[in-house]
Amino acid sequence: MVQLKTLTFADLIAQQTGFAGEGRLTDFVSRYDGELYFGDRLNLNRLARQYGAPLEVVYTPQITTQVQRMRNWAEQARAMTEYPAAFHYAYATKANFAAEAVQTALAAGAHYETSATADLIIAHGLWRQGILPSDRLICCNGSKEAAYREAIRNLRLDGCETVIPVLDDLSELNDLLATPAPLQFGVRERAAGNRDGRHPGNDRFGLTMTEIEQAVERIADSHHSLVLYHAMVGSQIEDANHFLATLRASIEHYCRLRQRVPTLRYFNFGGGMPTAGYQLSFHFDYQGFLSRLMATIRDICAEYNVPAPELIGEFGRYTVATHSAYLVEVGSVKAGQPGQPDWYLVNGSLMVMLPDTLFVSGQEFVILPLTDWDRPLRPVRLAGRRTCDSDDIYPRPEQEPLWLPETEGGLILAIFGIGAYQQMIAGRGGAHHCLTPEAARFIIEEQQGRLNSRFVPQQDQATIMRLLGYRPQPTALPLPFRQPMRSTVLSARRRPRARIAGIA
Ligand SMILES: Cc1ncc(COP(=O)(O)O)c(C=O)c1O
Repeated sequence: MVQLKTLTFADLIAQQTGFAGEGRLTDFVSRYDGELYFGDRLNLNRLARQYGAPLEVVYTPQITTQVQRMRNWAEQARAMTEYPAAFHYAYATKANFAAEAVQTALAAGAHYETSATADLIIAHGLWRQGILPSDRLICCNGSKEAAYREAIRNLRLDGCETVIPVLDDLSELNDLLATPAPLQFGVRERAAGNRDGRHPGNDRFGLTMTEIEQAVERIADSHHSLVLYHAMVGSQIEDANHFLATLRASIEHYCRLRQRVPTLRYFNFGGGMPTAGYQLSFHFDYQGFLSRLMATIRDICAEYNVPAPELIGEFGRYTVATHSAYLVEVGSVKAGQPGQPDWYLVNGSLMVMLPDTLFVSGQEFVILPLTDWDRPLRPVRLAGRRTCDSDDIYPRPEQEPLWLPETEGGLILAIFGIGAYQQMIAGRGGAHHCLTPEAARFIIEEQQGRLNSRFVPQQDQATIMRLLGYRPQPTALPLPFRQPMRSTVLSARRRPRARIAGIA
């Protein structure tokens, strides 16, 4: 009789990716001696043994790797295509504003892209401290309310010559043109945002062609100059052909404008560069894409007889999605309805940790068990045990279930790809859905080749209650540490007065 081998998690990964069980699984996860490593250096199993779960692991050297890799690919693409102008890597800070993320990207050489007032105020502070060096561009996108325009003026008047307001609306011009120091302006092309009809909502940004003409005239009549053309297509664009085809019309618009505006020098394609963080089987030929982009721009510019522009990409997801992970524990298993996958109840909230599971249709994350790769598989869905919300599940009902090793509880899962947008959308340091406390955080940064770490404990209940306006309730709260009581009756002389009287 032929005995059918029970499929294990290791078999599944081997089938999906060809991974032999040891070595590099993706460009951010590896496995050695049966233990998972982040960035090939940080042992996640050891962290789970030491700190338990839930734990957020923030590994900033991955950001450095991302930036360096893209800059190298761009250099190779420039060499291959003989592209005559520079390539500039900007970090779209909206993806993750955490100081360690922003500062690591800057240290790796990134320029800065802002989306709102607060963002620019941070940039101004970093610029003053020299953390954002004075040769870096600061591209200011987004709709500019008065405070944002004021922040741009302040930065420029403080001496920063590289701040570039990218006009999102003609109404922004008046205040900005009144800035006494010369400003370098950009215009954002509105049509690029939804040229293919696949990105509704993206076409609310930027100027129509007629508005661009008006902006060009008004800037030409001033002591300022127009230097940048911005054309953003979308986010996580995994189809390189589509990405390039959609940009083509914008490159032609750039060229036509460049024929009349000799100060134009940057073509900024915005975000959209995909991250590998969401799927194990992800593949995108970044260098191939950049080579094709440069060749396309070079050729179109030659047709229009204008110099090829310096290129800017604003990398959000690509920069930070892969630098952090959540470790969560399957605390209990609940049977699914007949014929349906079982529930693995984890000690966290999926809708708080992974809000894109709700907002982005079909959003996926890479989930790997830290142990038990040789145990049989079962189809499951995860559910957050720290909320009682029926939406607190992943994968969503319309998605295929996960296949994970069997467990009765205690299995720890690493959820990757969470470093971009998730925490910014869910918020950090606040009161969350069902008062789910934020997980403890273990942050690793690299300084002079050495990894330094710091541990931030799990958010405590007293903090959450204070945020919600509750007065301290000492008797109702679990105490972090209780002294053993020597005697239940203290003599009146030894009793602290304030406690007896109940007043401070
Ligand atoms: C103007 C602009 N640039 C860059 C980005 C970053 O996009 P991504 O995360 O796809 O890289 C965004 C994202 O919304 C954006 O609005």
